[in-house]
Amino acid sequence: MNIQWYPGHMTKARRMIEENLKLIDIFIELLDARAVNSSQNPDIAKMGANKFRLILLNKADLADEAVCQQYIDYYSDKNVSVLCIDARSSKSMSKIKAKILDVCKEKIERDRRRGIKNRPIRAMVLGIPNVGKSTFINSFVGRSCTQTGNKPGVTKGKQWIRIDKNIELLDTPGILWPKFDDEKIGINLAMIGSINDNIIQLDELALILIDYLKNNYPDSLTERYEISEIENKNNLEILNVIASIKKCVKPGGENDLPRASKLLLDDFRSGRLGKISLEFPIDNK
Ligand code: G4P
Repeated sequence: MNIQWYPGHMTKARRMIEENLKLIDIFIELLDARAVNSSQNPDIAKMGANKFRLILLNKADLADEAVCQQYIDYYSDKNVSVLCIDARSSKSMSKIKAKILDVCKEKIERDRRRGIKNRPIRAMVLGIPNVGKSTFINSFVGRSCTQTGNKPGVTKGKQWIRIDKNIELLDTPGILWPKFDDEKIGINLAMIGSINDNIIQLDELALILIDYLKNNYPDSLTERYEISEIENKNNLEILNVIASIKKCVKPGGENDLPRASKLLLDDFRSGRLGKISLEFPIDNK
């Protein structure tokens, strides 16, 4: 299943990010904790090559805890600052503030030596569509200051937000990159809702998800949809069981597989299937 999605507004957003690079001290990159490799935009990594960097593995509440820990170890081994967060909760926000100041401590010290006072750290918040940038910023600021929503690409324009006297944030629109080299990246991004559902064959995607869950998290299917003998059923049979259990039936009595597919994907995206990770650290060196 080859999925590619790079609408024109992302080219514009990328340009806006590049134009503001010189103003920025630190890149705060949000990745989706369920698909850390796939949600890492190689263009963002290139643009931020000379900046301080903090990675936030967001939606950690939806991801496999053991896999989240593997990613923490993976990035820590590479001396990259990283935190697992649930952007909807204000709990981790003071930790993030402290981490930003820690990552930028060399710069703060340099400013101090030069007699520059009261210059806040300027951070750019980046990430793919739907990764939770607006939700994070709202929690970080402590009031609702950016629009959030369930359609990929809803964060628009340019917004500087003052957190306190020490930190200012620049919000950026969610961007992807022109071509996913590996078919799996498009699939994982579609699974987590970062690609517009309207361009995806959802029943095909649902069958891929079923296959993955059957092999990696079989209990998620058996428990949610009461599917017995899952190992003896093929993916299409499982989708049919889901359609029957959830009463996704067309007027003629035939199973409505597109509706069952959407329902399965929604259950996965919202965590109703449990804490699930779609991929693991590529290497641990
Ligand atoms: P974006 O700016 O990066 O495009 O993403 P946004 O903040 O709009 O978040 C996209 C969806 O992800 C929202 O859900 C939001 O509530 C949810 N979300 C963000 N961070 C987290 C997290 O850490 N954990 C969980 N479980 N969900 C998170 P929505 O249902 O699409 O919209 P809404 O009705 O909540 O606004």
